[in-house]
Amino acid sequence: MSLTQEAPAAGNDVEEALKPFTVTVIIRRFDPETMEEPVWQDFDVQMFPTDRVLDALHQIKWEQDGTLAFRRSCAHGICGSDAMRINGRNRLACKTLIKDLDISQPIYVEAIKGLPLEKDLIVDMEPFFESFREVQPFLMASKPAEKGKERVQSVAERARFDDTTKCILCAACTSSCPVFWTDGQYFGPAAIVNAHRFIFDSRDDQAEVRLDILNDQEGVWRCRTTFNCTEACPRGIQVTKAIAEVKQAVLRGRA
Ligand code: SF4
Ligand code: FES
Repeated sequence: MSLTQEAPAAGNDVEEALKPFTVTVIIRRFDPETMEEPVWQDFDVQMFPTDRVLDALHQIKWEQDGTLAFRRSCAHGICGSDAMRINGRNRLACKTLIKDLDISQPIYVEAIKGLPLEKDLIVDMEPFFESFREVQPFLMASKPAEKGKERVQSVAERARFDDTTKCILCAACTSSCPVFWTDGQYFGPAAIVNAHRFIFDSRDDQAEVRLDILNDQEGVWRCRTTFNCTEACPRGIQVTKAIAEVKQAVLRGRA
């Protein structure tokens, strides 16, 4: 294709990106001080194709209803604080482009499921972090490192747990898991992912402790391999695969 043919296309792209449109966002609202049950509320917002659902929520909060409550911090997919259900699927609001949703329909936004609802899009994350803490997600090495030296690890040893180091603790996986919805005791995918990160770290020598914790009736065996967690993970972590590897390790030890 010649340069003269490409130029108008690029121009059109820019024009399209600058064209605003109106989209209806329907948010499940809840205020524990004034309401018995959550209710859905509509808002019309003017958006650009490059805007994200988080931008729509900001616009609503700053220009229409300052009482709207949601968490966010980095706005760039790093802090994990804005996981929510968008059109019935767990996603990060800051990583979901409006144009990637069907804008001919309203966009439905609600809090993630399975954790106690506090207000609007905010849930109590404490049960989630309690499970995370229980799997002891930190390096446990009984011998101190050689004085003045790091604990060395080969490239292959590091690669063994690379995928699970990417977790940002957003809870999108755990709160998309039907077992977690029905059984508040299940550790949930995120805790197992973070256990995996240390179980397969060659520098750690307490894998057995974590495997023992997860070989519990509320541990890995509760997983029904529905893959909801893998689909929900905004970091692309192979969550179900990590859980399967931990199950194998429980049966056969760390490979
Ligand atoms: S595994 Fe993925 S979805 Fe689950 S908490 Fe970590 S980053 Fe979020
Ligand atoms: S606001 Fe930090 S991940 Fe979305």
